Amino acid sequence: MRTVHSLKELRTILRGYRQQGKTIGLVPTMGNLHEGHISLVRKAAEASDIVVTSIFVNPMQFGANEDLDTYPRTLAADQDKLAAAGNTLVFAPGVEEIYPEGLANQTKVVVPEVSEGHCGASRPGHFEGVATVVTMLFNMVQPDIAVFGEKDFQQLAVIRKLARDLMIPVEVIGAPTVREDDGLAKSSRNGYLSEQERAIAPVVFRTLSHTADQLAQGRTDYSNLEQEAREALSEAGLRPDYFNIVNSLTLKPANEADRELTLLVAAFLGTTRLIDNLSITR
Ligand code: PAF
Repeated sequence: MRTVHSLKELRTILRGYRQQGKTIGLVPTMGNLHEGHISLVRKAAEASDIVVTSIFVNPMQFGANEDLDTYPRTLAADQDKLAAAGNTLVFAPGVEEIYPEGLANQTKVVVPEVSEGHCGASRPGHFEGVATVVTMLFNMVQPDIAVFGEKDFQQLAVIRKLARDLMIPVEVIGAPTVREDDGLAKSSRNGYLSEQERAIAPVVFRTLSHTADQLAQGRTDYSNLEQEAREALSEAGLRPDYFNIVNSLTLKPANEADRELTLLVAAFLGTTRLIDNLSITR
């Protein structure tokens, strides 16, 4: 497995693979890889000949008070994990490779509607940063397929829409959330949790599951259910950011006629912001 840091090298290597008729899969990441990321790499390897994993902590998608500086950078450990998972090429550019003219002068991609509520409302500019860097990665790698985790449900919706709207010839594939035995969704940010917080964290998935059960039993009083879920999170010691029951396609508040529903949650445990989701068909 090779690691390249420059766009020039990346393009030269990928040109060679394309000339051999190989298909290319992309797994965009910010590194600090865990089993969730590795499941994306394995999925990409099933669907393409060559898997490129990008590792780039994208400053554009972090807010001013967020964890850009402390976000774990673990390239050597990530390379070992990727090599073991059958990854072909790691693209690990520096910030100056991606934003040579600086962030302020960078052309940006704005995705309307699906990026607007939920995390988009709580983290202004976040999805602009994600959409911009993912569009750039699509242009740099020109993959046939790209795999993203369903854990970032809204992000996946934003990326599907940008690929569709900008006519980018890539198949965007979602991969199921990988969970710890107690239900906590795997996330690089789980590493920030203290032992005590880690013991509380599974309440996020338990609350999602309980609410999904209530919906399956026929309840349609969505705002009461959202309120009950927020209370359950607060009682357990979290600070809910949002708990929203939405139409799975539009991410707009669900109405009674909707059959495909997704429960979206974000909550702070100490200073760590956890997100998760659960989709159901009624
Ligand atoms: O999900 C992530 O790790 C990031 O948002 C992504 C898609 C790699 C863009 O920086």
